[in-house]
Amino acid sequence: MSAGWTWRYDRYDPEREPLVEALCTLGNGRFATRGSAPECTAGTTHYPGTYLAGCYDRLTSTVAGQQVENEDLVNLPNWTLLRYRCLPDDGPPGDWLTPEAEELRRYEVHLDLRAGVLARRLFYEDARGRGLRVSHVRVVHMGDPGVAAQRTLFRAYGWKGAVEVRSVLDGDVTNGGVERYRHLDGRHLGGHRTGFDSGGVAWISCRTVDPGIRIAMAVRTVTRPARPARETADSLGTVQTYRLPVVPRRSATVVKTLVLRTSTDRPAADPLTAATDLITRAPAFPRLLSAHTAAWQRVWEQGELHVPGEAGRILRLHVFHLLQTLSPHTADLDVGVPARGLHGEAYRGHVFWDELFVLPYLDLHFPEVARALLMYRYRRLPAAREAARRAGHEGAMYPWQSASSGREETQALHLNPRSGRWLPDHSRLQRHVGSAVAFNVWRYAQATGDRGFLHSEGAEILLEVARHWAGAAVYDPALRRYRIRGVVGPDEYHDAYPDAAAPGIDDNAYTNATAAWVLARGLDVLGELPGARRSELSERLSLDDGELARWEDVSRRLYVPFHQGVVSQFEGYGDLAELDWEAYRTRYGDIRRLDRILEAEGDTVNRYQASKQADTLMLGYLFRPEELNGLFGRLGYALDDETWRATVSYYLRRTSHGSTLSSLVHGWVLARQRGADAWRYCEEALLADVADVQGGTTGEGIHLGAMAGTIDLVERGITGLDTVPGGLRVAPVALAEIPRFTFTLCCGRHRGVRLRMLPGRFAIRVPASPEGPLTVERPGGGRSTVEPGQERWFRR
Ligand code: BGC
Repeated sequence: MSAGWTWRYDRYDPEREPLVEALCTLGNGRFATRGSAPECTAGTTHYPGTYLAGCYDRLTSTVAGQQVENEDLVNLPNWTLLRYRCLPDDGPPGDWLTPEAEELRRYEVHLDLRAGVLARRLFYEDARGRGLRVSHVRVVHMGDPGVAAQRTLFRAYGWKGAVEVRSVLDGDVTNGGVERYRHLDGRHLGGHRTGFDSGGVAWISCRTVDPGIRIAMAVRTVTRPARPARETADSLGTVQTYRLPVVPRRSATVVKTLVLRTSTDRPAADPLTAATDLITRAPAFPRLLSAHTAAWQRVWEQGELHVPGEAGRILRLHVFHLLQTLSPHTADLDVGVPARGLHGEAYRGHVFWDELFVLPYLDLHFPEVARALLMYRYRRLPAAREAARRAGHEGAMYPWQSASSGREETQALHLNPRSGRWLPDHSRLQRHVGSAVAFNVWRYAQATGDRGFLHSEGAEILLEVARHWAGAAVYDPALRRYRIRGVVGPDEYHDAYPDAAAPGIDDNAYTNATAAWVLARGLDVLGELPGARRSELSERLSLDDGELARWEDVSRRLYVPFHQGVVSQFEGYGDLAELDWEAYRTRYGDIRRLDRILEAEGDTVNRYQASKQADTLMLGYLFRPEELNGLFGRLGYALDDETWRATVSYYLRRTSHGSTLSSLVHGWVLARQRGADAWRYCEEALLADVADVQGGTTGEGIHLGAMAGTIDLVERGITGLDTVPGGLRVAPVALAEIPRFTFTLCCGRHRGVRLRMLPGRFAIRVPASPEGPLTVERPGGGRSTVEPGQERWFRR
């Protein structure tokens, strides 16, 4: 197993275990299981969680005297639990062993990224020198998205007797993985039934509370040497107990194979009948493992990014987790991009704007998956229309946090763990999420050439978001411009003006500039629709010339505030107090969550020029300098290089990086302008999860947006890659720390196009096919073609 494909931990550290569990999660896009030790149940150290994509449940809880509803990605029964103890011939039974046991001598966790296999090896030895080696191997099947398996091997050293093994299917689980949510009701499963079938099969069936999704798990346990089980069950779970003889140099094995079925699967079938039927046909472990490995090989061929060295190893881990959350199987599901993967319960499995950072990779490697994720948004267009209508607006207003239905799922109150206070959460005012959805539609169509989608579902999304912006913008005669008021920008810290009675800030530059962009693209898409489709859509959406004239006007006259020669994050940002950053750093060390620190002090971050994450600078992430100039130019503002550079350095000094997205975006922006500090931010983004830089948050789930963003930083950021009709434009920027890399991408009808970057030059290889040549546009305007079956080199 080559080092570049391995992720490993070689000692047991209880404090690090939640991080290990998150980073060793295995999944196949349909469901995932955290990389927890099979010996342990949920507690403060261990948290075995299994999550099914899109399986949410709604409960009402009372916190701070208020009733709050929360919709959570449901933690499913634990299928991995395996307890064991030694029964030596010459002594009393030992204790049930776990990594906490005094007898633990060695503990190693290996994640094989190429094969998608998690191995955990433990070695115990008691005071009399009696040893037991335990090796677990786990897979969540990439080929068959309903299946997972775990094989455990026991080997005795210096004694003989038996190992008593309990194979447990544990339905007594709750959503309890995030300390901050412990006040919320987390018991999402009810109506449990349990039982056994022949052939070592145990099963559990239960349902979520609301909307009552039925879930069935069938687990087959097979031992070698084969032994009958003593089977006991209660209403919440099953236990199969085996007594396996062990002698030195001969091992005993236990294989648990899981089939997971739910009432949302297609074709529809009773989940329990389907699960207990399918488990009888699930292959034995070796065959299951080879089919799983072969499926991963296919996924890697399409998805791999190869970068030499340690950065490349981390990037591969990022690709791995992205593909476990959103795999080719996702194309068959109605799910969005969960911000924290299927790896934990932070943010309750909700879908934010983070797909903005995830879709570019999928556009290039797995366009069918990208399209499916956009369809998740399309199916929730009626909910977004309804949200706009209730707010007194037109068009579609996508929710800041989305889950099953597409209604707003942002919590009404959030806890500041520092002060212990529950506070109103106004982050739902981040209306910019709608522009992110529209942006993703447009970019997907540009990257893939899928005009069919753009002209149907895509156009509808874009036009409805544009319509919302045109209606939300209010003309201010004093400014002679349109304004969008009462919102929150990506920064999130600023949710109101100091001492204001109502939440929201006005004219967030990012919100307004991207709204102008959406309006302009809405007009573009209408312009390019075939006549019949244009008439049909205009009629269905009741779009008339008067409304389109307003779009044109708003798209050219939205207000973007400036102060001191820089773009203002929002109107009045420049009037806020300056924070004494050094004093806060000295006093608190880590000040990423400055909002919590200030609130706990009885102050508020709203008073200061202090941002959580890139906000105005997000513009420099979405748009290249020339595109940004064009966008501002259309709005009647001159945004020259000098103003943009001044804006970048202004906000860099005033940002606490309280989100993992922040360093990523700053890394991009600086790399684009060849800023000296680019690598510092890129490196921080690379380390965000593996080093858990936000101080304990990764254990609650990976940061999928930041992970995907780092991959994209290499694939599109460093290469300056864009898809153009018939081919690619490549305009590399130098990032000395990542001088060489290779990846394959889809470009129009060409699949498996290979791009190789080396210092000073790059190559493009187009696989043999009946397609025409691929056009390559280069810096300085040169245009070449690469024939199928050919590789061509270019100077960088
Ligand atoms: C960030 C948001 C992000 C969310 C989910 C928050 O901390 O501020 O921008 O969408 O996390 O990842």
